[in-house]
Amino acid sequence: MTHRVLTGIKPTGTPHLGNYVGAIRPAILSSVLPDVESFYFLADYHALAGGADPERVHRSTLEVAASWLALGLDPKRAHFYRQSDIPEVTELTWLLACVAPKGLLNRAHAYKAAVDQNRERGEDEDAGVEMGLYLYPVLMAADILLFNAHRVPVGKDQIQHIEIARDLAQRFNHRYGDILTLPEAQVDESTATLPGKDGRKMSKSYDNAIALFASSKALKDEIFAIVTNSQLPGEPKDTDGSALFALYQAFAGSEETQAMRAAFANGIGWGEAKQRVFERIDREIAPARARFDALMAAPQEIEAILLQGAADLRPRAQALLKRMRDAVGLRPLAAQAALKKSEKKTKGPRIVQYKEGERFNFKLQDSAGRVLLVGPGYADARSAGAAITHFLAGEPAADLAALIEVAQDQDAIEAARVALRDA
Ligand code: TRP
Repeated sequence: MTHRVLTGIKPTGTPHLGNYVGAIRPAILSSVLPDVESFYFLADYHALAGGADPERVHRSTLEVAASWLALGLDPKRAHFYRQSDIPEVTELTWLLACVAPKGLLNRAHAYKAAVDQNRERGEDEDAGVEMGLYLYPVLMAADILLFNAHRVPVGKDQIQHIEIARDLAQRFNHRYGDILTLPEAQVDESTATLPGKDGRKMSKSYDNAIALFASSKALKDEIFAIVTNSQLPGEPKDTDGSALFALYQAFAGSEETQAMRAAFANGIGWGEAKQRVFERIDREIAPARARFDALMAAPQEIEAILLQGAADLRPRAQALLKRMRDAVGLRPLAAQAALKKSEKKTKGPRIVQYKEGERFNFKLQDSAGRVLLVGPGYADARSAGAAITHFLAGEPAADLAALIEVAQDQDAIEAARVALRDA
């Protein structure tokens, strides 16, 4: 079975080495696996929650898209698109909001953190909280459920969001029928979080990140700015807790890593170690850097790729939304009469009245259409109607003796009679 793997990238900054090692590289590798259908998209609606600067959102969308393409994401193998090019995402957000318990969203980490902070400051709990922040998990659930994703590769901080998506899918299915696929978070423990220049987790919010596609010179400067200790060349150095070593390991193969470990034990100088780390990373990044620069100079090409990605997917999104709209009762009005008819046809037994030559008659059919009983034929419609009434009531009446039990199935006749009488 094909597994659908989906993840969103929020365009709020310039991609850094941590994004590459933790998300972009594994995603591109996974996109070439057999039996995997990948969905990678720029979560630009999400970027708006929290009041991001418009220029920054725009710029970051370009940089993130260029980065993924430069690093080898093949838009023919993976769906690569921009969230805001698929308006069905917002439509689904509303359908999901209508099954989303407010209490569940009250417990979402980001919202709770905002509330806690407000409480500490003695402010109103919801001071400064916008609905974009509050509904963030619902929008994210829409991203995931719109394409019936099975697996969602994310960092630990996003697990709760996947659980909320699962919960909302379950609620929708419970209320309206089995339509949505329940997604699962995929947290890869082996992709270690990369330390930043100060040793804490590399993150744009700590201002310790090393840009992915800075120039070779800038990359070198950044790596030389990594905090080390005051040990001198010749002194054995600990690899545990060394940001420099961890960074090297994230790029190097196991043999290279062993060699570096030995160099640390043998007292390699920090300057020399930094030079080796720089060379190793630059070797991996340099070819992509050239492609990145070319793509950044041709934004119209990126635009075309993203638009195509969305255009390919929209029919699928529309098909799901159609089923969902139908399930919740948002249907074309003309469908009403047709539905009633088909309900009568398919549900339960029925009595059909008809005219045979000059005579009026009726027959009883079970839900499969099998004829159970036929009348003897009546001089007028009223007599036929009276016979039906007597039959349904189960009263002994003179006109019942003449009924012909075509199917010779007393139980079925009785079941049909009771069902019709109670209908
Ligand atoms: N919230 C995610 C983040 O901050 C980005 C995101 C948006 C996402 N929609 C998604 C991730 C759907 C996975 C699936 O990283």
